[in-house]
Amino acid sequence: MTRHRRPGFKVSLPLVVTLAALLLGGCGLGKQSTLSPAGPVAQAQLSMLYESLAIMAVIFIVVAAVFVYSLIRFRARKTDTELPKQVHGSTALEIAWTIIPIIIIVVLSISTVHYAFALESPPQGPGTVQVQVIGHQFWWEFRYPGTGVVTANQVHIPVGKKVNFSLQSADVVHSFWVPRLGGKTDLIPGRTNTLWLEASKPGVYYGQCAQLCGAGHAYMKFTVLAESPAAYRQWLRHMQHDTVSATTPAQQAGLALFKQDCATCHTIQGTPFQGKVGPNLTALMGRPTIGAGTLPNTAAGLAQWLHDPSAVKPGAKMPDLGLSESQIHSLVAFLETLK
Ligand code: CUA
Repeated sequence: MTRHRRPGFKVSLPLVVTLAALLLGGCGLGKQSTLSPAGPVAQAQLSMLYESLAIMAVIFIVVAAVFVYSLIRFRARKTDTELPKQVHGSTALEIAWTIIPIIIIVVLSISTVHYAFALESPPQGPGTVQVQVIGHQFWWEFRYPGTGVVTANQVHIPVGKKVNFSLQSADVVHSFWVPRLGGKTDLIPGRTNTLWLEASKPGVYYGQCAQLCGAGHAYMKFTVLAESPAAYRQWLRHMQHDTVSATTPAQQAGLALFKQDCATCHTIQGTPFQGKVGPNLTALMGRPTIGAGTLPNTAAGLAQWLHDPSAVKPGAKMPDLGLSESQIHSLVAFLETLK
């Protein structure tokens, strides 16, 4: 007769590795980490998080210490013959555990109220930049009031300046969030919300729609390009110039196709193409991605997008135009002139 080992708890190595990877995955200071602030708003919000965490850690330690002490000190002994003294309905205890949580909540709310007031009002004064943000399913429109500049999915801001974002929606509720700079605030149809951010260092900061807004929600990304005030002003001036210069036969064929198939939805500044449904494509090639962060903005990426937008970005509102390979080639040649 064979003897079987009793089935016991067996540690599965793949399980341990998976759990460890998931756990440690949260430790990295990634591109969208609130633990790696790059501006005063994100820094203030992180300070608030640490202050609350410190208070809660003290509470946890006190409660755990009392709990462990009680387990040891008041455990049942062999000599015990009756139940210990019952405390149900003790007025003193009821008052104590009502008042202590009230004090904790008041203390916790002090830093919340302090930072809420400090970050609430939109900054005023010279040097403050205004940007209008309009959320669309599933992309971001950025307008610079007073300049005529409109762009999509990448917002340029000057380093070291306070930027007032006014937030509106063209359709459903979205949420504007750049974790390393601060946030987040909802974009609600029919009203204008405000949020201000500032980047302390030049760089690219990654943002994401943080409110489930439909099938393409996860693909509703954007970048904030923080650059020196001089570079920012230069970019604004560049964006105000006409950008269309189709010279080669392929580019001219692409321009004709654009007029026929694309111009009802897309605007290119300085041309009769003034469609307002999709992203403004003025100086398109200055953006790092297309499809709101879905594909790299290269000839191959543009071709892939034009072939069938919703195949690369589920939920994309742009239809498959049924373009042939040679039409796609011409359109890409034209789009690449938008610099
Ligand atoms: Cu827009 Cu989620």
